[in-house]
Amino acid sequence: SDGEIANSFHRNDFKQMIAIVRSGTMLSIPPSLKVEPTFLPSKGFSLQQGEDIILGGIDPHTHLAMEFMGTVTIDDFFSGQAAALAGGTTMHIDFVIPVNGSLSAGFETYLGKAKRSCMDYGFHMAITKWDETVSKEMEIMVKEKGINSFKFFLAYKGSLMINDELLLEGFKKCKSLGALAMVHAENGDAVFEGQKRMIELGITGPEGHALSRPPVLEGEATARAIRLAGFVNTPLYIVHVMSIDAMEEIAEARKSGQRVIGEPVASGLVLDDSGLWDPDFTTAAKQELASLSLSLNYFLFFIICLFVMSPPIRAPGHGKALQAGLSTGILQLVGTDHCAFNSTQKAFGIDDFRKIPNGVNGIEERMHLVWDTMVESGQISVTDYVRLTSTECARIFNIYPRKGAILPGSDADIIILNPNSSFEISATSHHSRSDTNVFEGRRGKGKVEVTISGGRVVWENGQLKVAPGSGNYVEMPPFGYLFGGIDKADAEYLSSLRAPVKRFKATT
Ligand code: URP
Ligand code: ZN
Ligand code: ZN
Repeated sequence: SDGEIANSFHRNDFKQMIAIVRSGTMLSIPPSLKVEPTFLPSKGFSLQQGEDIILGGIDPHTHLAMEFMGTVTIDDFFSGQAAALAGGTTMHIDFVIPVNGSLSAGFETYLGKAKRSCMDYGFHMAITKWDETVSKEMEIMVKEKGINSFKFFLAYKGSLMINDELLLEGFKKCKSLGALAMVHAENGDAVFEGQKRMIELGITGPEGHALSRPPVLEGEATARAIRLAGFVNTPLYIVHVMSIDAMEEIAEARKSGQRVIGEPVASGLVLDDSGLWDPDFTTAAKQELASLSLSLNYFLFFIICLFVMSPPIRAPGHGKALQAGLSTGILQLVGTDHCAFNSTQKAFGIDDFRKIPNGVNGIEERMHLVWDTMVESGQISVTDYVRLTSTECARIFNIYPRKGAILPGSDADIIILNPNSSFEISATSHHSRSDTNVFEGRRGKGKVEVTISGGRVVWENGQLKVAPGSGNYVEMPPFGYLFGGIDKADAEYLSSLRAPVKRFKATT
């Protein structure tokens, strides 16, 4: 109904705006990474009072060098991992996208991309279609290639999305292989309908993105995926939980004993869409823009483009609820969904929000943001912090205690985080290749001062000492002890499903 506001966002010379941004008037281009051909001998360093030694972070959800929406994410395995190390993350798990439908080709392609790695990494595999070959290849991935998790997209109609029939096939296959099924939970058909509606209303600017895919569509898909995983009796991992609607479904399922894991991401925990519509923000922005002789519309258009990810950054309230979900155990670990684009890529959607590449950064910011938002604020303990940013991820993906622990025999991935020191996030100082940062200007307490990756000091005194090719592929073994194919236990389990679903409990 707000066609007037909406229409004004995407007119005139957005390219000029981009040029100004790129020229560094607003956000300057990040300094190039300090790359040294070999590792410096690790210097001794002494601990200062107040510094906490903490396990290196593991980011369960990233997209480095991914071909997506007609472009490629701006961070490759070197720049993305360098950024991660500067922010205290020492391992990540990236999503392999099949090549022409082939999982093996996708896997080989990603191993190639990861040749430039400077820290340890593992892979999940996306399943975007279904046939006998895919089914066989899933087996090869699990038995020979070190992949134990598969992501199914219920959104991105026309490209990555699969239907319920294929989802069920995928769940069954995961179960039989002892692999973990993951879903991107948004109802893609309904999103498609929402997008059509926006276009009919004349809302083609970036604000149309979130309007076309409200929380109810995330709640529906989360519920459906959970019910279907329950029907197959296989564990389920919900990626990028962005709304209360989705979290409530996870809470219900866990309460009833179903094995469901919920992963919120840094952006969803700390950002909301209020700044984009807040009159105070617009007043401040107007003053700032007057000096740059830019119209407010350019500014808003640009900012909203940067925020475009799926599921979308939600209204105020969702992020706080997700934080509470983490502190109370409804949600188990924090990822980032690091899927960075620069401003020129975001501008592909200048006339049509459906073409804005979906994704925001986070791989460098996650450890800082979670510390400041959750530990510094008193919501969780340091032990909880380590669990939510590292240990739980290692356990869920079956690489504990090689990762996720400081023990004899474990990889020496360690950080020193100074709780008394402050951080400030900016595209002018971050290590991602993007010229923008969705957390621009955010400050907080708790700074990662040293990162040790595989026993080597790679980040110290604000300097990265990383070399491409030093990272290792971490194979993730299947969960043989949790799964057992379709057996007698399943027959019993299925018969137990005759009981009414809890939420329709009779009332007196
Ligand atoms: O907007 C997002 N989340 N982009 C990355 C792809 C995905 O769905 O995880
Ligand atoms: Zn997704
Ligand atoms: Zn993702």
